[in-house]
Amino acid sequence: MIKTVNVDLGNRSYPIFIGQHLLGEKKHLTPYIKGQQVMVVTNETIAPLYLEQTLASLTDFKTSSVILPDGEHYKTLEVLNKIFDQLLEQRFDRQCTLVALGGGVIGDMTGFAAACYQRGVDFIQIPTTLLAQVDSSVGGKTGVNHPLGKNMIGAFHQPQVVVCDTNTLNTLADRELSAGLAEIIKYGLIRDLSFFEWLEQNMQKLLNRDPEALAFAIERSCQNKAEVVAEDEHEGGVRALLNLGHTFGHAIETGGGYGTWLHGEAVSIGTILAADLSYKLGWISEEAVQRIKAIFIAARLPIDIPKNISTDTLLNLMKVDKKVRSGRVRLVLLKSIGEAILTADYPAELLVQTLQH
Ligand code: NAD
Ligand code: GLY
Repeated sequence: MIKTVNVDLGNRSYPIFIGQHLLGEKKHLTPYIKGQQVMVVTNETIAPLYLEQTLASLTDFKTSSVILPDGEHYKTLEVLNKIFDQLLEQRFDRQCTLVALGGGVIGDMTGFAAACYQRGVDFIQIPTTLLAQVDSSVGGKTGVNHPLGKNMIGAFHQPQVVVCDTNTLNTLADRELSAGLAEIIKYGLIRDLSFFEWLEQNMQKLLNRDPEALAFAIERSCQNKAEVVAEDEHEGGVRALLNLGHTFGHAIETGGGYGTWLHGEAVSIGTILAADLSYKLGWISEEAVQRIKAIFIAARLPIDIPKNISTDTLLNLMKVDKKVRSGRVRLVLLKSIGEAILTADYPAELLVQTLQH
């Protein structure tokens, strides 16, 4: 059965379709493509697995594809240019549609290319990692990394439709599946206590890739994300809460060298740090911190700061964050399991203590 979640953004609203065997079906794509030219953007790992099937669902259009190298360290302006080269060489016009076939890296880059090409063309998300299906493909944040900061160059640009074929998750590495679970747990922690409790009960099913459990977790995550994005598309307020663990996590990703720690792994460690600081501030109990640690461990995610990244490095990298205001690092912290707040109101020495390892 296909589940549909709508992202309600007025005349830019779009559906997220979630189900098995969606790849290769025209009906979830054709109505969302207005011109004749379609460029599928993917990478060298995903192309042999899913490009042919995807192109088979686009035979009503003039299609082309661009295959990028695989990895977070290729999420750069330089590699982005390869998409523009192809679009220009093949005379793609302003009515064209780009299709992102891949994980968050491909989704973020393709979306940014679509936001920039001829000042904005349509794009479609076909996410193939758990992380992309529950988070990065929804909400219109697009961009690339800069050597000095992650996701620092980008744009808000919403897709026309998101198609999550849960069968694609069968080829995903275990480590990548766990990375996706970090973003799923995030929704429970920031705004959905009963989902957090469901995750505590069903983690093993998710690790075993039980299709029903996965479909439920993806749908519930997308519902949470869609509600937040509909309320605050451009992150003036509540959307910042989706960044629980991310300010710490981005510092770990950048400090470790892009690609060393997966985004979801860094978010896992970052969320434990956010929980620890919330505890130090007296907002959550030690029992809550233990419960949070336990769920990340159950999801087979790391919870400790990597030894080779110093406290000073982390503190410096945390200052390069989109939530910094007037030099103050604002952090998403927990008031309880199921309630988060964005705050700059914490003693600096408590943050330093939290980062010591
Ligand atoms: P990724 O895109 O690097 O994909 C992970 C790995 O899995 C890659 O090697 C990829 O080639 C491979 N892969 C993808 N699908 C596969 C499949 N079905 N079978 C086998 N292998 C497959 O990583 P990710 O975790 O999907 O995304 C991380 C990125 O997403 C980061 O750059 C992060 O900043 C970004 N992100 C963006 C948002 C947003 O709102 N835009 C939110 C969260 C994360
Ligand atoms: N992943 C955070 C956001 O989309 O806002």
